[in-house]
Amino acid sequence: MRLVLVGPPGAGKGTQAEIIAERLGIPKISTGDIFRANVSGGTPLGLKAKEYMDAGELVPDEVTNDMVADRLAQDDAKDGFLLDGYPRNTEQAKVLDRILDEADATLDVALELTASDDEVVRRLSGRRVSKSTGKVYHLEFDPPADPDSPDLYQRSDDKPETVKHRLEVYAEQTAPLIGFYEAQGKLKRIDALGEVAEVTERALAAIGAPA
Ligand code: AP5
Ligand code: MG
Repeated sequence: MRLVLVGPPGAGKGTQAEIIAERLGIPKISTGDIFRANVSGGTPLGLKAKEYMDAGELVPDEVTNDMVADRLAQDDAKDGFLLDGYPRNTEQAKVLDRILDEADATLDVALELTASDDEVVRRLSGRRVSKSTGKVYHLEFDPPADPDSPDLYQRSDDKPETVKHRLEVYAEQTAPLIGFYEAQGKLKRIDALGEVAEVTERALAAIGAPA
């Protein structure tokens, strides 16, 4: 299965991607995670991406598209993948179609996760990430054992002003993807409200995978 997740920041794409990819036995490819790993490793790619990420802007397409093309060329992605956070605008979606076309493959489903602005703000303001394991928690909905542990950090783009801007960028640049995939007959939409497990059930049903 070749699958992309689309949805506003904080809708739970990363949370669901982890679970769904594991269930389907396909790699989870999260462009945000790849960028963050490069930022913390201080690589040239990370240095380029950081200023855009901190501002809540999209990293330029040429940087992002090349990075995704390289990742999709790896062996583990040959028979399927779950992309989380890519594509993020119609230009990226067209590039993805081209990459797949050249490999004689096609995308199966674009799964949209919907959530209100109020809910995503609640989710992002309480998000905390473990430095050592990368696990994502929420102070209220999925609390870590010790909320004051020095191992936990808050993402630098989860500050309220940046979250507001990320939501604007989503509405302007990413939401048009919904129409793009609807026109291709590939769009499935689910409500991302409710318990993580309920959302997973909805997602698996929408993509036609066994629960
Ligand atoms: P990216 O990392 O992709 O961030 P995002 O799209 O803004 O989404 P988030 O990761 O913030 O949210 P999520 O939907 O994954 O939610 P999560 O599961 O963590 O991108 C970051 C930046 O990188 C971009 O701004 C851009 O600069 C750059 N970038 C990345 N891809 C790019 C691209 N293709 N092109 C250009 N630039 C790109 O959940 C959020 C919180 O809610 C967590 O605390 C979680 O525990 C909690 N939660 C999850 N599900 C539930 C639930 N059902 N109930 C209650 N709480 C829940
Ligand atoms: Mg994420």
